Amino acid sequence: MKSIAIINQKGGVGKSTSALSIGAGLILQGFKVLFIDLDAQGNLTHTLDVSSSVTYSAMDVLSGSVHVEQSIIHTSLGDLSASSPSLAGADVSLLSTGKEYRLREALSSLAAKYDYAIIDTPPSLGILTVNALTACYGCIIPAQADIYSLQGISQLYATIDVVRKYCNPALTVLGILLTRYNGRAIIGREVAEMIEQTAEKLNTKLYATRVRECTAIKESQAVRKSIFDYAPRSNAAIDYASLIDEMLTEDKLNGK
Ligand SMILES: Nc1ncnc2c1ncn2[C@@H]1O[C@H](COP(=O)(O)OP(=O)(O)O)[C@@H](O)[C@H]1O
Ligand SMILES: [Mg+2]
Repeated sequence: MKSIAIINQKGGVGKSTSALSIGAGLILQGFKVLFIDLDAQGNLTHTLDVSSSVTYSAMDVLSGSVHVEQSIIHTSLGDLSASSPSLAGADVSLLSTGKEYRLREALSSLAAKYDYAIIDTPPSLGILTVNALTACYGCIIPAQADIYSLQGISQLYATIDVVRKYCNPALTVLGILLTRYNGRAIIGREVAEMIEQTAEKLNTKLYATRVRECTAIKESQAVRKSIFDYAPRSNAAIDYASLIDEMLTEDKLNGK
């Protein structure tokens, strides 16, 4: 099983949207996918339409009160270990030694059941994001093509570095994904340079695919569908499908 964390400590950059769309796209390609929602806001959980039926959440898994399998909910959009409001207190409630490894341990028992785990994370660099980075083989960083959004990414570097040093030496940044992209605008020279510098610092690349701004995204989330079900011909569906092609091609090239 390959676990992929979707991270960025900035909110509103398209983490939850990308987590859902990447997972849904991989399912369409025939892969078995487990979604894990580590954000107390529960946007991914909401779209997967299970908010009312969560008995055990991902937080119960992290705190060790249940086995991960007990937390898995089967939804029409895929399997999910769901969010709960208690995730908001994880930085104070998860204290014991080894707290960074909880998700990694939980997922290791599922290796034969799923091809991918897609982990949505909160807009912070606390213990939940560290758990996601420790558990994954690689992370994807959604960002927007503006200076403020890109400045935030370089702060991620410190967190990634610490996780590599102490918890997950093999951690790779799979790529930076430009989201909510205005296809008609040209990226200015300053922004283009900053993207290049940021990618270099993180020893990663910018995905060639850019996900365009697309109203169908918001509409699909309102009716709790994936973009592929709701508007398969929309720009966002085309772009996320192309991102998945890019990811799978790269895996093949790397022999993964
Ligand atoms: N490609 C897109 N086109 C239009 N709206 C988008 C797109 N991607 C995300 N959004 C919207 O932007 C907002 C923030 O996205 P979200 O995925 O929740 O970000 P995050 O999880 O990083 O906070 C949401 O309202 C979402 O519907
Ligand atoms: Mg989110």
